Amino acid sequence: MKFSVLLVGCGNMGRAMLNGWLTKGLKGASVCVVNRRLDGFDEFRDQGCRFFQASHELPREFRPDAVILAVKPQMIVPVARDYSGFVKGGSSFLSVAAGTKLSVLEGALGGCGSYSGDAQYACRNWARGNRIGSQ
Ligand SMILES: NC(=O)c1ccc[n+]([C@@H]2O[C@H](COP(=O)([O-])OP(=O)(O)OC[C@H]3O[C@@H](n4cnc5c(N)ncnc54)[C@H](OP(=O)(O)O)[C@@H]3O)[C@@H](O)[C@H]2O)c1
Repeated sequence: MKFSVLLVGCGNMGRAMLNGWLTKGLKGASVCVVNRRLDGFDEFRDQGCRFFQASHELPREFRPDAVILAVKPQMIVPVARDYSGFVKGGSSFLSVAAGTKLSVLEGALGGCGSYSGDAQYACRNWARGNRIGSQ
């Protein structure tokens, strides 16, 4: 099964998770990353990951199984809204933002999807290719 991931925010946390997923066997070709800055990601590009600066640049046909939000807590709501269109397509969502309540995320995403606040849980499960459930 080809498990596809959209990572939004590739700073300290995003980078660490992406590194972990790839090390555990996730194929780079099935990962799209959106980050404001696009420099400094050669190690991931070399493994097939695709990088974009904004949501509207993503390939139209890209339908991620999982959307990981790894931006600062104050950015989570506007960023989640930006990607809420993927809820309809069945994507699971996960935010690693500290202190952001699930109800806030659910509101931004229109009330559906799957959420977790634990990055290690996400890494373990996604490395195995499983979908994330609510925690
Ligand atoms: N659950 C956990 O275990 C855990 C542990 C630590 C941290 N966290 C959480 O992880 C999150 C990220 O922390 P961090 O230390 O990785 O922060 P960070 O290093 O600042 O990374 C955030 C990244 O998101 C990018 N970004 C900002 N707005 C964006 C947008 N609209 N679209 C795409 N990318 C955008 C930033 O780009 P620019 O640099 O260009 O602005 C930056 O590269 C925080 O919410 C923090 O609370 C969770």
